[in-house]
Amino acid sequence: MNSIGLKLIILLSFIFTSCDDPNEAKKERPDPHSFSRPQEAVTTHLDLQLICDFDKKILHGIASWDITNHQSERIIFDMMDLVIDSVMIVQNDGNRSSTDFYVENRDSILGDELTVKIKKNTNKVILYYSTTPDALALQWLDADLTLSKKQACLFTQSQSIYARSWIPCQDGPAIRFTYNASIQVPSGMIALMSASNPTEKNKEGKYQFKMEHPVPAYLMALAVGDFHYAPIGARTGVYADSLLLKSAAWEFADLEKMVEAAESLYGPYTGSRYDVIVLPTGFPFGGMENPRLTFLTPTVIAGDRSLTSLLAHELAHSWSGNLVTNATWQDFWLNEGFTTYFESRIMEKIYGKEYADMLSLLGFQDLQKTLNDMEPELTKLKLDLWYKDPELSLSDIAYEKGKLLLRYLEERLGREEWDRFLNNYFKNFAFKSNDTEGFVQFFNSHFPTASKEIQDTIQLFIYQPGLPLFKPSWSTILFDKVDSVRNNFIQSQVLKKSNTQNWSTHEWLHFIRSLDSKEAKWLIPNLESEFKLSEIQNAEIAFVWYIYLIKSGYADIFRKPIDGYLERVGRRKLILPLFEELIQNNQANWAKESFTKFRKYYHPITIQSIEKALQIQK
Ligand code: BES
Ligand code: ZN
Repeated sequence: MNSIGLKLIILLSFIFTSCDDPNEAKKERPDPHSFSRPQEAVTTHLDLQLICDFDKKILHGIASWDITNHQSERIIFDMMDLVIDSVMIVQNDGNRSSTDFYVENRDSILGDELTVKIKKNTNKVILYYSTTPDALALQWLDADLTLSKKQACLFTQSQSIYARSWIPCQDGPAIRFTYNASIQVPSGMIALMSASNPTEKNKEGKYQFKMEHPVPAYLMALAVGDFHYAPIGARTGVYADSLLLKSAAWEFADLEKMVEAAESLYGPYTGSRYDVIVLPTGFPFGGMENPRLTFLTPTVIAGDRSLTSLLAHELAHSWSGNLVTNATWQDFWLNEGFTTYFESRIMEKIYGKEYADMLSLLGFQDLQKTLNDMEPELTKLKLDLWYKDPELSLSDIAYEKGKLLLRYLEERLGREEWDRFLNNYFKNFAFKSNDTEGFVQFFNSHFPTASKEIQDTIQLFIYQPGLPLFKPSWSTILFDKVDSVRNNFIQSQVLKKSNTQNWSTHEWLHFIRSLDSKEAKWLIPNLESEFKLSEIQNAEIAFVWYIYLIKSGYADIFRKPIDGYLERVGRRKLILPLFEELIQNNQANWAKESFTKFRKYYHPITIQSIEKALQIQK
């Protein structure tokens, strides 16, 4: 064959292998959001060495993977924006050699497919690599952007599919591995991971970690910076910037009690310790359940302990999520729905039914809004996310509709029976992944005589859009009081501090959410003069109030406090909707200007979402 013919064949075969014929891909890889083929060769243990270069904002890494090889001559990893320098393999006879690898740039969402040539008896693959400053998981902050301004800071956010932007790995939630890590940081900083952690800095800046329980890649986490530690209880404590440490320890005083409450519900906590870390404002989520060290937004420190259900939530993930893990992001509700239900049970145990039910009602309001706004297909619990962004699973459907299914089952089967089931569930699937069908099967084997109504309702929740008819028996006492205060206010146009004296964050959220934009003209000056809501430091209350101001067309007058907030708060859920609302209300220029000014505080995951909303081309 002439060389042009040969080139053509090579080109065609490249096009055919890389154009991802849907059915072919489904056959070859079990997870829509990972290129790995664990049935060929799968990672089981990681020895990770990292050097943190804060000047270049790069991690230099060696990822040494133990693998189980099913006689394959290749192993496939996920990666995103990594530079692979070289790869070595080790055979089970101890022989070591360098090997070929190639990277196919596959997908703007999933990143790249890294194929490494191995031998049938290869049991270790060692990758020498660096990250790039664009890594989506990594937020690097210069010292002047931190609270104490003494040291620079770095932290990760791996869920759902960004572990691959700082470690070449098989990045699917069904693939678990144990890990050891050695992290070199500049002196004056401490390194902390989702593992057993130091509480003090050392001079050399070299830190060793060991995670002996197998975890999926999305639970890999690292934070580096000027963090200090304060104990809370025997097994619990908090890391934070020294300027926040005292208020954080006060805010989280009930953490030990929460661990005890969780254990009394669903069995022993499997970690040695449960600590939390308060990160800089750019941490993109409320919390992230990194094993043994939950990562938290500073917005949770409200000064009155009113937002600590977030702690209960992340703690609950130690069972639902970290112990029993969703098999793919299509089963995300198994992580978040179970956790939101479990969170509510912890809150009820510690703070009583009325308080816990008030939080459930707020969640139910969120759910109703999402059901109204969202494409019906995405309101099923089980999602089909092949060739779709896993971010689509991240909505109140997984959290609140998932929780509602569990609440439904609790009410129908009785709390005692239902808790017995959940205890068994966590035991049975401990350190394993599970999918939606696995849950239904386990339910059926545990409750073989469950009524047809129950079985049908489970199917409706999981496979149909919207909500089956079910009204949970939550107490509405606390919000009924708020409703009556609001009705009096609307009638009298007078609201005094004495009317809202015992309100927590949640009463305020309910109150502001139920205000009508048509009343804005008298209502805004009235509330501002009595409560100065636009200057409130509680980010959750400020958020709903600013949404109301923007929607009602009064944003202009409040540009200064809103900008102050956008500078101070970086949690995606509490800023992205504000940018969106500004755009929808003819304030696109303002949105763009503020984003340009404050993006230096935001995490790359947040920046990516806001750029999409503002239609900023990279
Ligand atoms: N695991 C999630 C955060 C997450 C989910 C990050 C999916 C990336 C992809 C965490 O447990 C969570 O649910 N956080 C919530 C707080 C919670 C109280 C609802 C959040 O960040 O808002
Ligand atoms: Zn969660």
